[in-house]
Amino acid sequence: MTEVLVEEQAGVAWVTINRPDVRNALSRAVNTRMTDVALELDQKDSVRAIVLTGAGDKAFCAGADLKERKGVPASETGPYINAIATAIETWGEIRKPTICMMNGSAYGGGLELAMACDLRILVDGAEVGLTEVRLGIMPGAGGTQRLPRLVGEARAKELILLGRRITAGRAAEIGLVHQAVARDQLRATVEGMLAELAGCAPLSLMSAKSAIQRGYGKELSEALSIERECYEVTLYSEDRDEGLAAFAEGRPPRYKGN
Ligand code: COA
Repeated sequence: MTEVLVEEQAGVAWVTINRPDVRNALSRAVNTRMTDVALELDQKDSVRAIVLTGAGDKAFCAGADLKERKGVPASETGPYINAIATAIETWGEIRKPTICMMNGSAYGGGLELAMACDLRILVDGAEVGLTEVRLGIMPGAGGTQRLPRLVGEARAKELILLGRRITAGRAAEIGLVHQAVARDQLRATVEGMLAELAGCAPLSLMSAKSAIQRGYGKELSEALSIERECYEVTLYSEDRDEGLAAFAEGRPPRYKGN
């Protein structure tokens, strides 16, 4: 489906939501495809990192497709909203590192999707917000849970209850995005992060991500057992031996993902 483009280059999958005319809004078809793409890329061995972006320069994603949603009968509302929640949840569960290259503003489900990625780089001049309360609904695809985890409860309440749209600079200041950069620096910044990731062992990245995601918010002793379980995956890996050998020989490691 051309509304979600997937291109693989040197171990990186570049995924583009391609509906610039409606600011990359998440239609039912896009949500279904986004779920499938996330599952496929998670399983594909040749893919070590994933970049998610939107087409055009106006918006990364304007959230749920409000025009399509208006026509959904009450009897279909449940499955309809499940499709967006499933897409975002499936992106959040990808085991590999994910970077959201936010080429423009993100609202509602668009920001919820960005928050399900590991790293977020936002273009200067864009805005972000969970604006759902202004539309008679509320964030329902992870927003009320992921936003406080990223920026703290007080700021999350400010943003969600006031339905505020904040600037890229403010989003970076409060830790909602990792960096706000000029448009001509966006791709280079993401490529810089990809280069850093490429120097790391794939199993280490997946295990560390899993430890953070599974352990965060748990009681410390339980979280530490989760960390130990994830650590053990790396401990007996071939890449661990390669890392130690490369260090001893003073050369860059050649990781294979085993
Ligand atoms: N769903 C469906 N269509 C959307 C959309 C959405 N979420 N957001 C924008 N569009 C459509 C507009 O209706 C318009 O369509 P038209 O050309 O047929 O009139 C087109 O995209 C361009 O939108 P426009 O508002 O003219 O573009 P803009 O660049 O000036 O502003 C936004 C872009 C994203 C800031 C603005 O469209 C907006 O605020 N959208 C709603 C975002 C929102 O509240 N999302 C939360 C969803 S829960």
